[in-house]
Amino acid sequence: MKLSDASLRQIEAAHPGRSTWLAANAGSGKTRVLTDRVARLLLDGVMPQNILCLTYTKAAASEMQNRLFKRLGRWTMLDDVTLLEELAALGVERDLGPDDIDRARTLFARAVEAPGGLKIQTIHSFCAAILRRFPLEAGVNPQFVEIDERAQNLLLDEVVEAIADGQ
Ligand SMILES: Nc1ncnc2c1ncn2[C@@H]1O[C@H](COP(=O)(O)OP(=O)(O)OP(=O)(O)O)[C@@H](O)[C@H]1O
Ligand SMILES: [Mg+2]
Repeated sequence: MKLSDASLRQIEAAHPGRSTWLAANAGSGKTRVLTDRVARLLLDGVMPQNILCLTYTKAAASEMQNRLFKRLGRWTMLDDVTLLEELAALGVERDLGPDDIDRARTLFARAVEAPGGLKIQTIHSFCAAILRRFPLEAGVNPQFVEIDERAQNLLLDEVVEAIADGQ
């Protein structure tokens, strides 16, 4: 299969064994590279619960999750030849065989059933989860809640009023 230069660069960037810093224009395929990378890690046998993907926005987290599950879902239904083509297009370097086909078909179920799930979440929710697990170490109240924008503005108004009242 002849791949374009852009696709070859994507494959290189999605190599799960390398540490990569990726910057590219809007709509040029960054999310695609990240999901390819996760798919390749899973194909290499990494347990889904050992993978952590952090995004900045909730929209980006659900976009990644949707794309990954869509792809893994499709793999459960493809015939052998088409599935092998898809796996090869990901850039997997070793020779692909029947074991890879079997594994690819079970990834969807494994990712869904993984204890704790495959973690694709925002950096905010990841940090909140750590603070909830280790409140003593972090010196925070275990019952803390994250402040939202509305509560933040109300609190700010209260503080300003308190200052204006000379308190
Ligand atoms: N190598 C490729 N071959 C075919 N389609 C691709 C390829 N790479 C990306 N695409 C498609 O191009 C579109 C944009 O890709 P993607 O969403 O990954 O870009 P992005 O850089 O994350 O965009 P944004 O900056 O909006 O987050 C998607 O529909 C994706 O499926
Ligand atoms: Mg994107």
